[in-house]
Amino acid sequence: MKIVVLAGGRSPERNVSLSSSVMITNALREKGHAAVLIDLFLGDELQDVQTIDQVFQRAWVPRDYAISTEILTVAAIDQLRTDGSKALFGPNVLAICQAADMVFLGLHGEDGENGKVQATFDLFGIRYTGSSALASGVAMDKRLSKQLLLQQQIKTPGYVIAKKGQPQPALAFGFPVVVKPANGGSSIGMQIVADQAELAAALPIAFQFDANVVLEEYVAGREFSVGILNGVALPAIEISVDDGWYDYTHKYQDHGANYQTPPAIPAAVHQQMQKMALVTMAVLGLTNYGRVDFLWRAPEIYVIEANSLPGMTPHSLLPQEAAASGINYAELCEQIVAGKLA
Ligand code: DAL
Ligand code: MG
Repeated sequence: MKIVVLAGGRSPERNVSLSSSVMITNALREKGHAAVLIDLFLGDELQDVQTIDQVFQRAWVPRDYAISTEILTVAAIDQLRTDGSKALFGPNVLAICQAADMVFLGLHGEDGENGKVQATFDLFGIRYTGSSALASGVAMDKRLSKQLLLQQQIKTPGYVIAKKGQPQPALAFGFPVVVKPANGGSSIGMQIVADQAELAAALPIAFQFDANVVLEEYVAGREFSVGILNGVALPAIEISVDDGWYDYTHKYQDHGANYQTPPAIPAAVHQQMQKMALVTMAVLGLTNYGRVDFLWRAPEIYVIEANSLPGMTPHSLLPQEAAASGINYAELCEQIVAGKLA
């Protein structure tokens, strides 16, 4: 198949996306597909493409993207966002996606994960991996998804929403408090604060990423994640860190965190997490694949959030869970694509 792996974009998770996408592209090639990595936003190099066939025959050689998950500075993100000369789609990108049999969304965060690209593709009749535009938008927005989960009696840590330019809302719970941009990922802009002074300092940082910020009750529990592949819950993975919390650095550094899959927890708790992951996917309307993150503070299991385009980097959780059930990385990518053809 001719597959475009769409990567990059102008989200704060741009580098994470490029890292996922290099891996996905190589995996799809290993499976015999004509796969090409294309940077959604900075597709400048495609201006030189004479015919779309060149792209899939790889007569045109794309920029050599290295796997680097270096965190982008706020200034670099602003630069990407405010460069008014560029539309979200770089030159020729949409036409190349139209010529592909499938677009594998290697995007993370914002425009790639929030449904906008998916909605555009629906309008142009382009097939893509992952969930619908609507479900992607809902899952990306922690405020909306928490409301839906609570309506279905799925436990999620308590929260209030702080809005940029408005007085800080009263907290319905004590410190510590988790501060998160409502639409974000990879813990970018997120902080855990111990008191009001730290909260006051954390808010402007979080508002750099989103006008809505979730102030969430801190649940001191063990951290887990459950990947879903075509309606099946994979074995959970437990994440622990030796110091601090599972932030961006711990997520993407070699040996940044300790992972165990399947985790050493009672079978009933494991099964309950897998069941809750499937229910969460259904409640939010997510399909094909995804990943639901949990905290377990016995006896309660809390859903933190669902990821509609979970990380596929060398350090990411879903590939580790798939491997634990005998599905290697290339096969995981193949099954994601197959799930959209079924
Ligand atoms: N947002 C990152 C990519 C993840 O959830 O894996
Ligand atoms: Mg996330």
